[in-house]
This record gives sequence, C-alpha cells and structure tokens, in this order.
Amino acid sequence: MRLFFAVNFSEREKDAIMSKVGELKKICSRGNFSRRDNLHVTLAFLGEVPRERLSAVIDAAKSVEFQPFDISVGGAGNFGSVVWLGVDGTESLRALAESVRSSCAARGVDYDKKAFTPHLTVCREAMFAGGKTPASLGGGAILNKTVTSFELMESARMGGVLTYKKLFSQKSR
Ligand code: 2AM
Repeated sequence: MRLFFAVNFSEREKDAIMSKVGELKKICSRGNFSRRDNLHVTLAFLGEVPRERLSAVIDAAKSVEFQPFDISVGGAGNFGSVVWLGVDGTESLRALAESVRSSCAARGVDYDKKAFTPHLTVCREAMFAGGKTPASLGGGAILNKTVTSFELMESARMGGVLTYKKLFSQKSR
C-alpha cells in the first residue's frame, strides 16, 4: 500500500483553493493540475508499506497528540514545473509533522526523511505562457484554517485516475 500522512481540506476550503487554481490555469499553456479531491498538505510520505504493517502505522497516528492550530494558504510559487501554494503558520504544522515522523520512527515505520517543506502542490509538469510565473500573480492568504485533524492516506490508481483515500483520522485534543 502506498501511504502518506496529510492535512486535508473541507469543501469550502477547496472552493477557495480551486479559485486560485483557476487563476493559475490562465497563465499555464499546459499542466497536470491536481484533482480537487486530492488537495492536501503532506506531513510525511511513507511510500510502499506492506498491508500487515498497517496497524503499526495507525498506532503511530493514534499516539500523536496535538492542540488545534491555525494555518493559512497563500500565494503561489513554483519549483521548476511544480506549482504550489505556500502554507503559513508553519511552526505548529512543523511540530505536527515532527510528531508524526518521530511516532513512525518509534514503531519502525519508515518514511521519506526529506526535510519538511509545507506546501500544497496544485500542478505538475506546468509550462507558463506569456512570460508569467505563479509568483507574478501575487496575492496574500486565500484561506485560513484551524487544523483539528490529520489523516493517513492511501494513494492508488483507480481506473487510471490517481485517487487518495482516507484510511484513518487522528483528531486534536
Ligand atoms: P508533493 O505534493 O510535494 O509532490 C502523495 O504522493 C504526496 O506525498 C504528495 O503530496 C507528495 O508531495 C508527497 N511526497 C513526499 N515525498 C514523496 C516522494 N518521495 N514520492 C512521492 N510523493 C511524495
């Protein structure tokens, strides 16, 4: 099973994100845009995990305790052809990612050790038209969110479509 931990968004929050994505589409001559249902901020990427280890992964999530905290999603940027929206309020988000990761490590659950860079990927393989870049759109926060849960996600191709399924949700105290 291909697994990762993420913070997900409500339908209303996804509306705000998709409105920004609409602006980004106008400056891209091409791009593989994330599906609305797939919008998330990754906390830890586990990759392929044997099914028999799923209970250990869920136990890792269950032992993470955190208080609700606020984040905001803001302006767009890009790393090459990957377009993302920035995420602020990162101290608490970073602390949550660290807790998730250390809880995994304590149970021998492996994860990608790349440093945590909070972002929301909205497009891959983008090409920009008319000399515009995502940053040139400017703009401040498009949404504020109180994070009260994070989820264990399974990534799978269903009929050729990249689909993320919530397997477990851990709520704040
Ligand atoms: P990204 O948004 O920066 O591409 C599911 O694949 C999620 O896990 C994506 O949000 C992806 O981040 C993230 N991720 C982190 N490390 C990854 C890796 N080594 N391979 C694939 N996805 C990874």
